[in-house]
Order: sequence, then structure tokens, then C-alpha cells
Amino acid sequence: MGDLDGRVAIVTGGARGQGRSHALALAAEGAAVSVWDIAAPIDSVPYPLAEPAELDETVRLVEQGGGRALGLTVDIRNTSQVDGAVARTVEQLGRVDILVANAGVCGYRKVTEITDEIWDDMIDTNLSGTFKCIRAVLPTMVGQTYGRIIVTSSGAGRAGAPNLAHYASTKWGIIGLTKTVALETAEQGITANVICPTTVHTPMVENEQNYRLFCPELDHPTLEDALPRFGTLNPMHKPWLEPEVVSRAVLYLAADEGSLSGTVLEVSMGVSAYRPT
Ligand SMILES: NC(=O)c1ccc[n+]([C@@H]2O[C@H](COP(=O)([O-])OP(=O)(O)OC[C@H]3O[C@@H](n4cnc5c(N)ncnc54)[C@H](O)[C@@H]3O)[C@@H](O)[C@H]2O)c1
Repeated sequence: MGDLDGRVAIVTGGARGQGRSHALALAAEGAAVSVWDIAAPIDSVPYPLAEPAELDETVRLVEQGGGRALGLTVDIRNTSQVDGAVARTVEQLGRVDILVANAGVCGYRKVTEITDEIWDDMIDTNLSGTFKCIRAVLPTMVGQTYGRIIVTSSGAGRAGAPNLAHYASTKWGIIGLTKTVALETAEQGITANVICPTTVHTPMVENEQNYRLFCPELDHPTLEDALPRFGTLNPMHKPWLEPEVVSRAVLYLAADEGSLSGTVLEVSMGVSAYRPT
């Protein structure tokens, strides 16, 4: 018996990283999982996004654990792809109880170096894409009088962050979006909450452009060079969180009986102790 037996969850950005971990954690508690990912590059994003084989691998891992998964190639920037993927999820898995709006992109530029293309792609994915996913699942959730919406923001959604104006703008934006959804659905059996992880061990962080940011004096910095410096970002001086730690916060919100809504849960290794939230 799992906490989520009989439930159906959608996880966006589920081909790898935190999304894969969330899909596996939800499946381990009994939910059937609809795993979405763009599984293709976005030109202005300076590190590779997931590959189709990684999306297949998440599905395989869920099934290997005895769970049920549907893998769908979905670009959350595209309304018809998002709406179509919700329809396929309902058709094949029966309902939509949980949305983990996790897909996102990052990149490091000072404000004056952010081109229109970089800005637009960031807003279209992290902010508008999250909005489109929430908008698409709400009619089904309202019809069921049940829904758990969990949105992945960031520590950059709680403070300013040098080189991350575009990213921070989206991560603040989805907190406003989620709190508003929480108010609009408060009497309909639906909760909407946000998680704000600090640095997490995923390909979004484990890439050369990120190493360069932390080691500007080196021509070709490696993970080994950068790792000790990640620890300067938090008072525990740990380099990063493993995705499974963030998944426990997702499970907590997904399995909640229904009074926890409009909340922002920081998974931050103490970073949030530095500032009022
Ligand atoms: N890694 C960190 O340090 C960190 C910290 C705080 C918040 N976050 C947030 O956590 C979430 C998950 O990121 P991650 O760390 O697992 O990184 P990741 O790059 O491993 O995973 C992100 C996934 O989203 C997918 N994706 C990107 N654009 C998409 C689109 N338009 N449509 C559908 N899928 C798309 C990617 O292909 C990838 O599989 C993101 O929202 C990110 O901003 C990450």
C-alpha cells in the first residue's frame, strides 16, 4: 500500500534530473506517472537538454519498479502539445490527480548580456510553460474535485541572484502564479504549492558553463574545480542536494490530505535562514 495508490501524476521535465527522481518517487508510492519532456535542445540554452533515450529510460525505471508510466514528448511552451498530452494522460491513465510542474531551463548572463532570444526562451519555458501546464490540468482536477499542483521554483525565486535576472524573474513569477491558483481553487479540493530547492545535483548544474561561473580564472574548469565552490552558496557548505531529497518534499505535498495550499517550501540547506521569506 502506497500513499498515492490509484492516483495519476504528471511530471514535466521528467526525462532526467529532479523530474526523473520525482517520477520514481511518486510511482514508488503507487501513482501512475505521465512523464513529459521536450527531449530536444533549445538553441539559446547553453547546455544540452534531455535526449529521447533519457525519457524512455525514466519510463523503463518506473516499470522496472513495478509502476505504470506513459512517456510523452512535450514542449511545455506549446499550448496544443500541452493540452494534447493532458488528453492522452486522461485517455490512457484515467485521470490527473497530481501535476509536478518541474520542467525548466537556466543560463548565466548579466542583464546587459541577455539577448531578446535568451530572455524570451527563459520566460516561455519556465513561466509561460508552467502556466500552460496548470491551465491545462485544472478543468480535469475541478471535475474530479481533487488536485495537487506542485511547482518547482528555486532559491532564485526568493532573492535576487547575480547573472540570473531572467531565471529569477521566472522563478518569482511562478510563485505568484501558484499562490493565485491556490486562491482560485481553494474550495474545489485542489491545492497548489511551490518548492524552492537550492543547488541540486543535476545536469543543469553539472555543465561547463556553470563551472566557468564559479572558476572564472580557469580556461577549462572541471567539476572537480567547481564543486568546492558550490558549497560557498550555503551555510552548511555542502556542494549540492541530491534530487531524491527534493522528491521527499514533492511527496509530502502530493500526499497531503488537502489543507496545505499556497505554501512555499524551501529545500535550501539553510540558505533561507539568511533572509526573511
Ligand atoms: N539543479 C538546480 O540546482 C536547481 C535548483 C533550483 C531549482 N531548479 C529547478 O528544478 C527544475 C528541474 O531542473 P533539474 O535541476 O532537474 O535540471 P535538468 O536540466 O536535469 O532537468 C530539466 C528537464 O526539463 C526539460 N525541459 C526543458 N525545457 C523544456 C520544455 N520547454 N518542455 C519540456 N521539458 C523541458 C529538460 O529536457 C530536462 O529534462 C527546473 O525547473 C529548475 O529550474 C534546479
